[in-house]
Amino acid sequence: MSGPRRAGAMIAAMLLAGCGGEGAAPVAPPVRAVHADVTVLPVASVDAEALAARLYLVYLGRPAEPAGLAYHANAIRVAGLPAAPAALLARYRSDPQARQVLDSLAASAEARALAPDDATALLLAYRQLFNRAPDPGGAAYWSTLLASSVITRVELPLVLLASAHPLDVAQFERKLAVAMAFTAALDTPTRLAAYQGSAAGAAVREVLAEVDAATDPNGTQRLVDAALARLASVPVFSQVEAIVQTRCLGCHSVTPTMPGFATAPRGIRFDSADQIRADARRIYVNVVQTEFMPYGNRTAMTPAERALVRTWFELGQP
Ligand code: HEC
Repeated sequence: MSGPRRAGAMIAAMLLAGCGGEGAAPVAPPVRAVHADVTVLPVASVDAEALAARLYLVYLGRPAEPAGLAYHANAIRVAGLPAAPAALLARYRSDPQARQVLDSLAASAEARALAPDDATALLLAYRQLFNRAPDPGGAAYWSTLLASSVITRVELPLVLLASAHPLDVAQFERKLAVAMAFTAALDTPTRLAAYQGSAAGAAVREVLAEVDAATDPNGTQRLVDAALARLASVPVFSQVEAIVQTRCLGCHSVTPTMPGFATAPRGIRFDSADQIRADARRIYVNVVQTEFMPYGNRTAMTPAERALVRTWFELGQP
């Protein structure tokens, strides 16, 4: 399977040849076979919403939330960005407005948290685009280009996409279809609220990773349903808040109700959501790791509640 798929490097080198860099010519790709039959499939011209969805998938590996989709689609329309990866790459290199639109996703805090370094960025680009790891030759080739700044991390996925094997392109288009259907399905306040934070993003990414080029087109709805189900099982902050209110506020409040507690022990109070968020780590340590809290378990916290606090914290405190 991986043989024909490593073909893109030469095309990418051609794409890059025009960019000059600091006179750094890209090194010859250490691939065994470059298949002559590879055609660059420019993605058919698409509307701004579809391109926005595409960029979310390329840079964040997940479907857009509806508000973000609308925002970026508007920016895309204003900048008049082309959809085809090669054309988009050219615009990115020459047009500050295009740069701004792409960087707002590609250099966002979320993207940086996903890929703190070049090596991770490379693995992530392959996973997010094609649901697979790069073959060793390709990995070495792209690493060199990244390390020598011939291409940037923002440009990498566009180059990969522009030079991808048709099978990889088909895979990506399937993922995109699922991602767009998922965004469209976020049509209730409950679903919108659930699709927030890094845990929710991670859960939906996992479902997208199940898409393959052979996925039955009718399977789109099945995957969307699976993603929505995963989302419903992600602990949301309101659940943690409810637990803290029931099990902790008796003591850790401005007005404690537990007999013997006139004031909040150690001055620690969880009356507001902000206080809970700010103390997330200490809550986790005392409730999950040491089980020191609730004090003497006087408020009868259940193991299921501790498990929920654990998931909430370990998945990144949505
Ligand atoms: C029955 C009263 C009571 C309840 C209920 C209670 N606590 Fe406490 N909490 C205490 C007391 C007393 C201390 C001080 C213990 C000490 O310093 O030895 C404390 C200390 C703490 C500390 C500081 C611990 C440290 O060493 O840093 C945290 C954090 C904390 N509680 C969180 C919670 C959380 C979260 C809950 C709910 C899941 C909770 N507590 C429920 C009485 C309570």
